[in-house]
Amino acid sequence: MTIRSIAFFSALKSIFLQSRKVFKNLTSAMRDIFDRITENKGPLGKWASQAEGYFVFPKLEGPISNRMKFRGKEVITWSINDYLGLANLPEIKKIDGETAAEYGAAYPMGARMMSGHTEFHEQLEQECAEFVEKESAYLLNFGYQGIMSTIDALVAKDDIIVYDVDCHACIIDGVRLHMGKRFTFKHNDMESLEVNLERATRMAEQTGGGILVISEGVFGMRGQQGKLKEIVALKKKFSFRLLVDDAHGFGTLGKTGAGAGEEQGIQDEIDVYFATFAKSMASIGAFVAADKEIIDYLKYNLRSQMFAKSLPMVYVKGALKRLDMLRTMPELKEKLWENVDALQNGLKERGFDIGTTSSCVTPVYLNGSIPEAMALVKDLRENYGIFCSIVVYPVIPKGLILLRMIPTATHTLEDIAITLDAFSAIRERLENGTYKRLSAAVAAAMGE
Ligand SMILES: Cc1ncc(COP(=O)(O)O)c(C=O)c1O
Repeated sequence: MTIRSIAFFSALKSIFLQSRKVFKNLTSAMRDIFDRITENKGPLGKWASQAEGYFVFPKLEGPISNRMKFRGKEVITWSINDYLGLANLPEIKKIDGETAAEYGAAYPMGARMMSGHTEFHEQLEQECAEFVEKESAYLLNFGYQGIMSTIDALVAKDDIIVYDVDCHACIIDGVRLHMGKRFTFKHNDMESLEVNLERATRMAEQTGGGILVISEGVFGMRGQQGKLKEIVALKKKFSFRLLVDDAHGFGTLGKTGAGAGEEQGIQDEIDVYFATFAKSMASIGAFVAADKEIIDYLKYNLRSQMFAKSLPMVYVKGALKRLDMLRTMPELKEKLWENVDALQNGLKERGFDIGTTSSCVTPVYLNGSIPEAMALVKDLRENYGIFCSIVVYPVIPKGLILLRMIPTATHTLEDIAITLDAFSAIRERLENGTYKRLSAAVAAAMGE
């Protein structure tokens, strides 16, 4: 070996050793992404071993109605968004069954733009638009992805989004897609909205963009309607467009059931209206409605629809039937509200704190820890046959327990009377420390 080749190989060796050192330094700070997942299951996931199958991922069995089975026992169900009680009506099951038999689950195949378009999709869009008093509508396969894409398509980098801090996760995720600025305003707080509109306006004047304000028709956890009337009044002072997610208002609010905008008399001031079929329509799918020019634009720019399979016929024809029932059977909404009023008034008369709900969503606020909430809900289910959802920290502040109830048209006054008595009994046990003792005993048994 020549001196030159020895020098060459030793230089090569030193480069190799150096790069190995650099790589080692780099890798020493690195970790496997699964390590973090093993160590930290997330704020809700950490309760999985105590909660799964009972408090979360419970299996409710039997036809969707006011009474279903939980772990083999009948319970009064207060956690199902089948507001109008459509899910189990014979005419609904008939159309769903017949359409599935005729078309199967697949038809039409492909995205709307490519091969998944039918005259029934168009008909449903037209009928949805008419129902919510807008020029045009476009179907969305899922509400969640649909509204994300709607937000994504409506704004460009120079635009600014101003949205209510309590907005649903799908709105937050939609806002996350936005490459430009975004501000939250305090929940339903018009002063805070004004402050943020002033900031957004100053910014938009610099970027040359516009402003999109987002609120909900009904905030699904606490039941307050979005202050849509007050928001649209601000259009006199500020220039912005308003997008409203009316998932819980559609079918339940307003004279015809067209939602929170109709209820508040400002439907035509909502620039972009969104509703899902997953609540009062007891199905799946959603739609967005606006002026024709806006919907024509969205049709070609909603990524979650352009690159995803079209809504199957069974849901399209099913939605046409459901919409027809919304229009022609006002007695469903009347019965729903009879139950809402009986439940909410009954709770208030017994001194329960139901917050400031102005919709069917009925929250009951109690003070207690998460283990106490678990003991209380178990008592409700096992000893009183009442099934309702609990919401705890981090969704609501620490130390609060929220029992969230959804009255529907299928409930009876007897269901309500039984539930009110049960609630009085569990409140007493919460206040006299029964659940604290029970939860401490469970924790001790689990070695915590
Ligand atoms: C306010 C709100 N928006 C959107 C959605 C998502 O709708 P979907 O279930 O159709 O995806 C929900 C569902 O819970 C909701 O409550």
